[in-house]
Amino acid sequence: MEPYRIKVVEPIPITTREYRERRYAEGGYNQFNLTADDVTIDLLSDSGTGALSAEQQAAGMRGDETYAGARSFQRFRDVAEELTGYEHIFPVHQGRAAERILFTALLKPGQISLSNTHFDTTRANVELVGGVWRDIPCQEAKDLDSDAPFKGNIDLEALEKALQGPDDVGLVLMTITNNGGGGQPVSMANIKAASKLSRKHGVPFILDAARFAENAWLVTQREAKYRDRSVRDVVKKAFRLADGCVASLKKDGIVHIGGLLGLNDPELARQCELLLMATEGFRTYGGLSGRDLDMCAQGMMEVTDPLYLKERADATAHLAECARQAGVDSVQPTGVHAVYLNAGRLLPHIPPHRFTGHALASELYLAGGIRCAELGSLYLGEIDDAGELITPAPYELVRLAIPRRVYTRSHLEYVAETLAGIAKNPERVPGYRLVEAPAILRPFRCRLEQV
Ligand code: F0G
Repeated sequence: MEPYRIKVVEPIPITTREYRERRYAEGGYNQFNLTADDVTIDLLSDSGTGALSAEQQAAGMRGDETYAGARSFQRFRDVAEELTGYEHIFPVHQGRAAERILFTALLKPGQISLSNTHFDTTRANVELVGGVWRDIPCQEAKDLDSDAPFKGNIDLEALEKALQGPDDVGLVLMTITNNGGGGQPVSMANIKAASKLSRKHGVPFILDAARFAENAWLVTQREAKYRDRSVRDVVKKAFRLADGCVASLKKDGIVHIGGLLGLNDPELARQCELLLMATEGFRTYGGLSGRDLDMCAQGMMEVTDPLYLKERADATAHLAECARQAGVDSVQPTGVHAVYLNAGRLLPHIPPHRFTGHALASELYLAGGIRCAELGSLYLGEIDDAGELITPAPYELVRLAIPRRVYTRSHLEYVAETLAGIAKNPERVPGYRLVEAPAILRPFRCRLEQV
């Protein structure tokens, strides 16, 4: 059961199918054009959507808004330093700000960033500084159904090969958990080996630690060597295997806004500090208010609570299991922050160029007011200016991301029931065609119609 009770509630909109059909059509069948009033259960993102604890709110009240050297910063730094062990701790307003600052300081044009999987803003930030991103996920990641425990791992052979040249690798970035790769965890053995290889070749090894606690939780559950270790110990060890981190605290900081850049190298830290001050804010607030910094500090302490993590993982697994019983498969084994539904398998009558994943995500909205994210050909496929799909994505997935401490199991069961209703007559679900397909940031700006 949840190791907390509810003290503040917020009504959620209960709408009719007619209303949703009208609103969705008005928004060009793009979920990003829906507003909060249109959505009953919002599983679009687990980022910045969590519920604050009473202690976080109390910490916020203590926030010190001094311009330079605020007490809130000292508290933020103390917690982040203890957790990560990094010498230099910079607050930023969210994860992508840390990425932009680090890559600007670290990556030279033409240099490669290697990762188990770059998140989409991470890819964009590598490209914006003239770098080249390359994903080298492990082989096990290709089989969506297998029970392999650490499908988030990087392919160590491919890493070693790439580090040997002739390519100029500027950085190795390990994303924990692997959000682009089905929310799967990375083992400590894999982090250790990737760290060793990177250090051998003198390449900085950085963690994208957005879901550091959830990765550590899965390590304690799935990696024999760490079974008796505390989540906090595993988190600390993982950070200490890397030379630094970029972290969106909107996930495992359980805050609405906040991020962290941590580094050991003093010269790199000096360059990042300059960029931080020029673009985010002074080094002791980095674009956040004092109350944000205090809420981040408290969140970073709360999130490693094993009772909280166990319940969160169990709730996600429960949703995946209810979906499976209703005939909807998802990427196995289930991770913590999301269930990745296999839309391709449920809707074989919709070919990738009619956007299978988008079709399932759309039906979840139309049938139940549930909003979620497509991770298929609309988002990851290659599409020409006329909106025609040239190369499909490898899989047609739909991500149901679970906000932290927000929805109860009965909300999740409602999602499963809605899915079950769709799975009864999947052939009734229509496909989609792009009618506006902007080249840049397409998923957020495109419009579609039903076919
Ligand atoms: N890295 C990972 C692995 C992420 O999942 C995200 C954000 C970021 C970096 C960027 O952090 O949003 O604070 O700037 N993921 C959100 C999501 C948006 O829905 O998965 P940010």
